[in-house]
Amino acid sequence: MNLTMPTAISGFSKLSKSEKIEWLLDTYFSNKENARNLVQQYWNSDAKLQKLHDEFIENTITNYYLPLGVAPNFSINNKLYTIPMAIEESSVVAAASKAAKFWLNRGGFKADVISTEKIGQVHFSYSGNFETLQSFFESVKPKLIEDTKAITKNMERRGGGILDIELKNKTEDLEHYYQLHATFETLDAMGANFINSCLEQFAKTFKAEAQTQLEEDVNIVMSILSNYVPNCLVRAEVSCPIADLKSKDITNPTLFAEKFKQAVNIAEVEPYRAVTHNKGIMNGIDAVVLATGNDFRAVEAGVHAYAAKDGKYSSLTHCSIENDTFKFWIEIPLALGTVGGLTSLHPLVKFALEMLEKPSAKDLMQIVAVAGLAQNFAAVKSLTTTGIQEGHMKMHLMNILNQFEATSEEKEKIVEHFKTNVVTHSAVVEAIENIRR
Ligand code: MEV
Repeated sequence: MNLTMPTAISGFSKLSKSEKIEWLLDTYFSNKENARNLVQQYWNSDAKLQKLHDEFIENTITNYYLPLGVAPNFSINNKLYTIPMAIEESSVVAAASKAAKFWLNRGGFKADVISTEKIGQVHFSYSGNFETLQSFFESVKPKLIEDTKAITKNMERRGGGILDIELKNKTEDLEHYYQLHATFETLDAMGANFINSCLEQFAKTFKAEAQTQLEEDVNIVMSILSNYVPNCLVRAEVSCPIADLKSKDITNPTLFAEKFKQAVNIAEVEPYRAVTHNKGIMNGIDAVVLATGNDFRAVEAGVHAYAAKDGKYSSLTHCSIENDTFKFWIEIPLALGTVGGLTSLHPLVKFALEMLEKPSAKDLMQIVAVAGLAQNFAAVKSLTTTGIQEGHMKMHLMNILNQFEATSEEKEKIVEHFKTNVVTHSAVVEAIENIRR
């Protein structure tokens, strides 16, 4: 059949789910039946559950699966955890589990939440005198807070709320640009809705009061939380006497410790390496953030800004060797929630949080930081010893076999073959062809 040339469509969001699918099939797919079957194959058979997922976003047509794996044996502050990880990349869960097991008998991971402050800003322009604006701000500040009472009441009852509001003069960076820079404590909630609601109320009150008290206009540009949270910090660490690093693949612990530290030092000074080094850390972090229903884009943005806080992109982890002790640690900003948002909606998120024994946001910050540190330990250990490809390609082997729809019998034979042969994409394809010949 002929496909129609794609043309813009109006009113798409108002179509029903099946109408949307039909439009897509008509517009983009030569084999409509196959495409329709595929989309429907991923629908959940439980209509209520499917509706829940449909309603998470707009224009939903089906579900997009990611595997949910688990990494057991994490000792964090002497408590044992099995960490849920949602990720599509092979080797990540295996690496986390291996690192967890490695440190289990070497004191485990220690983690500590340093601070929990979130930030939001009302950005505005004003062309009058700064001193006048400053004294207006001081006089209106109590009212800014007072007018948010309906929003902050519950949060305050639990011990959180607005910590402070400052007026910031940014006119050196941009003409007429000022901010109300507010700080918040949002406890176990990530707090995006709470913060944005407070900010929009600040903006309303500020504008209204300015209209009656100031000669020059205050023009509100926008009110929004910041995903840069350098004062919502967590630190995780492992350490042990160098001699205790000895293991099956570390025969010379002193040499290992020195080379490992060198690799971390390289990531501290060299942005090209730092980006990949930190990407490995985010393999662990994003997987747990996603499994626990948190916003991994917010975390990513904040973490990378933090990695560049000193003016040059650098490693998020650090390593020291002092008095024969090897120490490896991470310090990162993480704004996470264990209540609200997806945490009370997505059944698998609830499952993941129950598996973590219903953590507070602070507990989750520690768990996520540990997952990042563990991932980085495993990656740098591999890179500085065997190289990354050995482990990677073995896991990759399964993906290639699945791509070729290998039977269990074929898989068994090929896995056996690659126990003594180097895994490359072409070698696997050749092995499959040989078996099928
Ligand atoms: C791959 O997803 C992550 C690594 O490249 C991280 C690193 O190089 O440290 C292995």
